[in-house]
Amino acid sequence: MDFAYWLHEFEDAVVDRGRTPEPAWGTGGPLPAALIASLQRFQAGEDGDGASLIAKSARAGDADYLAAIRMFVAEEQRHARLLERVLGEAGAATLAGHWTDTVFVVVRRAFGLRLELMTLMVAEVVALRYYRALRDGAPDPLLSEVAGRILADEQRHVPFHVARLRHGFVRLPRGVRAMVAGGWWLLMLGATLVVAVDHAGALRRLHLSPRRFVADVLGLFRPVVAAVLGDRPAPVRDAVRQAG
Ligand SMILES: [Fe+2]
Ligand SMILES: [Fe+2]
Repeated sequence: MDFAYWLHEFEDAVVDRGRTPEPAWGTGGPLPAALIASLQRFQAGEDGDGASLIAKSARAGDADYLAAIRMFVAEEQRHARLLERVLGEAGAATLAGHWTDTVFVVVRRAFGLRLELMTLMVAEVVALRYYRALRDGAPDPLLSEVAGRILADEQRHVPFHVARLRHGFVRLPRGVRAMVAGGWWLLMLGATLVVAVDHAGALRRLHLSPRRFVADVLGLFRPVVAAVLGDRPAPVRDAVRQAG
């Protein structure tokens, strides 16, 4: 697998960011309480040092992949800083951490690179639909702008992780891949339901019913599973982009 391509994609994104003016900081205003609580949880989820992921990626022995993973972790940390700033302009602080993230982090660190990436992918696919809802439904133009920028990064993260996961699973027999797919779907379904219940008030504020949110997230996950565990490589980037 050639991860030089993905490394260039991450490097191009840095160049693009350098050319793009900063969001209109200073123009943010108060936000509904349900939205603040929701953003605080996503902010805590974006914020992490990625040490476990970087260590496992280093053991994978691909210098381009490791460099791309480092840039990926830096982008997630940037998302945390962007959301922290939006929260600050709304007069709200960040959380020290939320139990859903703690569960995620413990599960992710307990396993090898493949299982860590599969767990991470669940959060990335949820993020695709969440940030799209924020971009399209936020009551505040600054929040909408920031959400659109984060969404563009998440649309790159999903096919990047797909590439590495397909490489990790492609040699396993079809029956094993089908069992992995079953487990992955259960994890995705469980996590999506938790997020839909936990963030129901915020989703409604963004004009998205929790039921629709669940349906859309699962619809985004289907091409991801096919691309990682299917018999033939399948394009996932367009499916992810169309959803945005
Ligand atoms: Fe993110
Ligand atoms: Fe991401």
